[in-house]
Amino acid sequence: MIINFENKITTGKHVLVVLVFEDEAMKSVKGLPDKVLEFLAKVRANKEFTGKKGDKIYTYIEDKNLPEKLLLIGLGKKENFKYRAAKESGAIIGKTLKSVKTKEAEIFFPVGLKNFIDEILEGIFLSQYETDKLKTKFTKKEDFKIEKIKIFTTVEKNIAEKALEKAKIMASAADFIKDLVNYPSNIVDVPYLANEAKKIAKENGYGIEIFSEDELKKMGAGGILAVNQASKKEPKLVVLKYNGAKNKKEKPIAIVGKGIVFDTGGLRIKPGQYMDEMHQDMAGAAVVLGLFKVLKKLNIQKNVVGVAALAENSLGGNAYKPSDIITMLSGITVEINNTDAEGRVVLGDAVTYSLKYNPKKIITIATLTGAVYVALGHKYSGLISNDGKIRRELLQAGKEVDDLGWPLPLHPEYKKAMESKVADIRNDDKDTSRSAGSSKGAAFIEKFIDKHDWCHIDIAGTAFTDIPKPYESKGATASGFYMLLKFLEKY
Ligand code: BES
Ligand code: ZN
Ligand code: ZN
Repeated sequence: MIINFENKITTGKHVLVVLVFEDEAMKSVKGLPDKVLEFLAKVRANKEFTGKKGDKIYTYIEDKNLPEKLLLIGLGKKENFKYRAAKESGAIIGKTLKSVKTKEAEIFFPVGLKNFIDEILEGIFLSQYETDKLKTKFTKKEDFKIEKIKIFTTVEKNIAEKALEKAKIMASAADFIKDLVNYPSNIVDVPYLANEAKKIAKENGYGIEIFSEDELKKMGAGGILAVNQASKKEPKLVVLKYNGAKNKKEKPIAIVGKGIVFDTGGLRIKPGQYMDEMHQDMAGAAVVLGLFKVLKKLNIQKNVVGVAALAENSLGGNAYKPSDIITMLSGITVEINNTDAEGRVVLGDAVTYSLKYNPKKIITIATLTGAVYVALGHKYSGLISNDGKIRRELLQAGKEVDDLGWPLPLHPEYKKAMESKVADIRNDDKDTSRSAGSSKGAAFIEKFIDKHDWCHIDIAGTAFTDIPKPYESKGATASGFYMLLKFLEKY
C-alpha cells in the first residue's frame, strides 16, 4: 500500500474518504467541495449520519470534478478524539475500504486532526494485517490489496509527512511482531528468531551477541540449556545493544524477553487444547525484537539492552525431568519440580546475563503464566515489581497507548513459596500452585535481580486474543510493545 500526499482532491474512479466529527458543523471546510458538504448537511438533517464514532456512509457522487465514490466516516466527539479513537478510526477506514474492494482512495484530513494523523494512518496500516499469509493465494498474489491512498490535507506538509513516516515504522514493527507470534514453530524456530535479530542489528548498526549452545555451556547458563535439552535445535541467547542516550555512558535499560518457540510443557505435558497455542510462547522475545526495529528509526534517547532467551520446551528421552536440580548462570541451584514452568528458568539466566551491562532498570516480558489470564483476562497484562515507581510509569505509559496493564502483588510469602528443601529455590510452588501463580512466577525471577529496579510484565493473557480491538486481528496483538515504547520515550 502506497500512501502519498496530494494538494487537491482529484477526479477518478476512486473513493473519497471524509472524516467528520460528531460535534463539528462543517458548513464550510477549507478544501472540501461544496457538493460533499451539501450531502453531509442532508444526511445529518435526516439523522442518517451524525458523525458518531463508527458511523459511516458509502455512496456514489455524480460530479465530474470529484472522485466517483464517497465514504463518510464518523469520528465521534472532538473532545474524546485521542490516541485510541484515532487508531480505531483509521482501522474503520481501512477495513471499510477493503470490504468494498477499492484499490485506490483519497482521504481528506481536516486541520482539526493535526495531532493524530500518525495514529489514524497507523490504524489504516494495521487494519490490513493478514493472518492467512501462508495460503497459496498470497504467494500467487491473488489476494486483495489496497494499492494507493492519497491524502489531501490542509495540515502543513512536513507535519503530515512526519506522521506518515511514524505510522509506517510503528505498523511495520507491530506486523513483524504479530507474524513472529502467529507463525508456528516449524517456521519461527530458534534459528529463525536469532537470524531476525541479526538482520535488525545490521540494518540499524546495533551491537549484537548471539550465544550458541556451546557458548552457553561454557558460561554455565544451566537454565536455558536444561529447558532446551530435548529439542533437536540449539538454544540461543541473543543480546542487542542500542545507544540512543545523549550521554553514551548512561546506564541502559535492560528488556528481557521469554522466547520459548514451543512449550509442550515438557514431561509435565500440556493437555491438547492448551498446547495448541504454545507456538506463541515467544511473544516476549518478539516484543524485544520489535522494539529494536524502531528504537533507532524513532530516535529514542535511551540506552537499551535487549535480551531474548530462545529455547524450545520439548519432550524426549533427553528432556529435563521433575526433581532435576540444575545450576543457573548466576550460580543459584534450582529444583525443577514442574517442567512446564520453563519460562522463568530461561529468564533467570537471561536476567543474570543482562546484569553484565549494569542496567539502571530491568524489565522482563513474558507469556509466563496461565494464571494472569484467569486474574485479568485479555484486557490487562499483569505488572509485578519490586519498585512502585517503575511499575506506575509502565502502567501510565500503557494507558496512554491503549496497551493496558494492572498491578499484581509481590508478597514475601510468595517469594518464600519458591524456596526448596533440596536446592536454593524451586521453579514451582509445590503445594498451592494454583494460588497467586503469576506473583510466584515473578518471585522466582526476582531471585536473579540484584538490587535493580525491576518490573515484570506477564503478557500470557494479552499477547494473543480471540477478541481483537478494532485495529487488531484475531491472534497476536503485539501487547507490551506499545507500553514499552511509550515508557522509553517518556521516562
Ligand atoms: N507458557 C505457559 C504460560 C501460558 C499459558 C502462556 C497460557 C500463554 C497462555 C507457561 O510456560 C506455563 O506453562 N505456565 C504454567 C505455570 C505453572 C506450571 C506454575 C501455567 O500457567 O500453568
Ligand atoms: Zn510452560
Ligand atoms: Zn511457557
